[in-house]
Amino acid sequence: MIRDGTVFEDDHLPSVIVGRNRHMNEVTDALAPIEDGFRAENCFLFGPSGVGKTTVARAAVRELRQEVLDVPHAYVNCWQDYTRKAVLEQLSRDLIGSAVSRSASTGRLIEHVQHELNGPGVVILDEVDQLRETEVLYDLHEIRGLSWIGIANREVDLFADLDDRITSRISVAYRVRFDSYREGTITEILTRRAREGLGPGAVDENVLARIARLTKGDARRAIAALRVGARMASREGLSAIPMRLVDDAVASAKREVRQKTISKLNTHQRALYEALAEEDGLIQKELYARYREIHDDPVTLRYLRANHLPKLEHYNLVDVEQHSGSKRYRLVDADHPELHPERA
Ligand SMILES: Nc1ncnc2c1ncn2[C@@H]1O[C@H](COP(=O)(O)OP(=O)(O)OP(=O)(O)O)[C@@H](O)[C@H]1O
Ligand SMILES: [Mg+2]
Repeated sequence: MIRDGTVFEDDHLPSVIVGRNRHMNEVTDALAPIEDGFRAENCFLFGPSGVGKTTVARAAVRELRQEVLDVPHAYVNCWQDYTRKAVLEQLSRDLIGSAVSRSASTGRLIEHVQHELNGPGVVILDEVDQLRETEVLYDLHEIRGLSWIGIANREVDLFADLDDRITSRISVAYRVRFDSYREGTITEILTRRAREGLGPGAVDENVLARIARLTKGDARRAIAALRVGARMASREGLSAIPMRLVDDAVASAKREVRQKTISKLNTHQRALYEALAEEDGLIQKELYARYREIHDDPVTLRYLRANHLPKLEHYNLVDVEQHSGSKRYRLVDADHPELHPERA
């Protein structure tokens, strides 16, 4: 039944971005000066998980490239590339296309990008709240002609730990806020995905509407549920997804998405997850104490609170409740903590 599995992959950039016209316009407007040879306006995209932030940023750059064919552009995922050096290396690879010696200093990397950058360019800084060495934001500011689209879940997480010098540079950036999708939009996104990726007649409107209802405005979960449903139906030799499989498909897709998120956790987030897997329902002080035992290079409680704990919440791995003046943390669906401990 699955004719083209690639359309269900997370990095598949759909040809049509459904229901985000305003967001698309705001980002393309910010980038528009590049068409006339000027530096674009920096902008931030904020919002919960699975609401199309990365997709809109990439689609806006795709549109720009239709106007300016050779516009220098880069994509950095700051969850993976969280040091100043890693960001600058990725930037140099994408923008310039030429390798710089592995031993090049950050100063040398900046010079190289500045020197070789051919006209105004743009970099997507995805998961920018996960940057460890935020001074790189200042470096980017110093590169003539370079602008960025920064993506994060919440504004407060981003500004929690920044140097004043950096804050003053980035606080003027334009902000675009995303909220969760309505069920009708998710249904439309799924209809298009099904048309591209599944055989004809594989789904009916009611099946898609049920997936939309159960995935609560998160397009990633909904698309994963469609793929899992198609797989389950194929296994039974069916050519369409029957309604009776939908709830299981949604539950299993949720586990798949969670598993993928867990595999992306950095050592600090993983240590927190592990602590909660051992003992659920810890208050912040207890959790921090346990984390310090697990991790051999622990960060401060303040940093943990500003940076790592919110990430676990946003990706629906951890639930937080107030408990007589203190926050209490639990794993979401703690009955199956899928953990592959790789301690720091
Ligand atoms: N408006 C849309 N039209 C079509 N597909 C979409 C749309 N929004 C999201 N998607 C699809 O949903 C999935 C999740 O979207 P995306 O990765 O952009 O979410 P996000 O907001 O960046 O989430 P996160 O904060 O978890 O990174 C992707 O596979 C994307 O292709
Ligand atoms: Mg994203």
